[in-house]
Amino acid sequence: RRVAILISGRGSNMASLIEAAQAADFPAEIALVLSNRPDAEGLARAKDSGLATLAIDHKAFPDRESFDRALDAALNEHDIAFICLAGFMRVLSDWFVERWAGRMINIHPSLLPLYRGTQTHRRALEDGVLVHGCTVHFVVPELDAGPIIAQAVVPVVPGDTQESLAARVIAQEHRLYPQALRMICDGTARLENGRVVFSRQW
Ligand code: GRF
Repeated sequence: RRVAILISGRGSNMASLIEAAQAADFPAEIALVLSNRPDAEGLARAKDSGLATLAIDHKAFPDRESFDRALDAALNEHDIAFICLAGFMRVLSDWFVERWAGRMINIHPSLLPLYRGTQTHRRALEDGVLVHGCTVHFVVPELDAGPIIAQAVVPVVPGDTQESLAARVIAQEHRLYPQALRMICDGTARLENGRVVFSRQW
């Protein structure tokens, strides 16, 4: 199973996926790291790990559709089966999302369906929730709304700041994302008629 990781920034989730995929029994290989920002910190990290990398600068394209077509062409050239979005900060067109339906997952720093979008830690603190976390989901055209594959919960504790809460959540993201990728690559979790079907109970 050839996997592409799409990033825009520092790529700490990317790094956790790369590390996990090095295990002999991991059912996927990271075949490509692709960024829409040529200067993404994560791209340099991926290069250092000896992985194939590609920058497709969205600013070089007149519109979203032509960027997405270039993205799709590059992924097909690299014979990619699954896509992990890992801090990829471009909204993808419905055309692209539908082409990759059931084969593209994202990690989001909240317990969806709570706190779609940005500033999730700030909003959780403002609401006074006592649990927070992260979610891996299949990507659908609606932002942060896809069927859920895996979640991890963290407590919110007195005195938490956005930074302390973010640190607690990202530690769980790094654990959860490789697990979820494993599940879609070995068929434990798959998308059927808009829902996730789990083939094994735990
Ligand atoms: C993470 O918080 C992830 O949940 C969100 O974007 C952030 C990416 O961080 N989608 P990194 O680039 O993986 O460090």
